[in-house]
Amino acid sequence: MLDTNKYKDNISVGIPAVDGLIKQGTYDWIQKCLESAKENGSEVIVVMHHNIMDHSEVIRDGYTLNNHGQVSILFKEYQVHLVLSGHIHIQDICSDQKEINTMYDIASGALSVYPHHYGILNIPFGITA
Ligand SMILES: [Fe+2]
Repeated sequence: MLDTNKYKDNISVGIPAVDGLIKQGTYDWIQKCLESAKENGSEVIVVMHHNIMDHSEVIRDGYTLNNHGQVSILFKEYQVHLVLSGHIHIQDICSDQKEINTMYDIASGALSVYPHHYGILNIPFGITA
């Protein structure tokens, strides 16, 4: 589970930042975790607040992770197939099916948005691309 929120300037600006990113220290930590998972044959499911892919043609800035390109490359390198995200408050599934190892970004709705949508995720044991 990754914290993609930006807190540093919230007090001085007076409002919370809407956009998000993976900081370099977190990125390095993720890489170590993914390497360890690879060595142990484990499948990693990433959960984070901001989206790794665009879920809308209109709403992107502030919702899709600022450094999604860099982070996506890392996830693809270590064959991450599933990212669970939120923030955009819609129930939506995106994928990069043009790639060999398909990665999905499943955004969950929010309880603050009516009607309340939810998804049921069935993950088969031993996910394969
Ligand atoms: Fe949010």
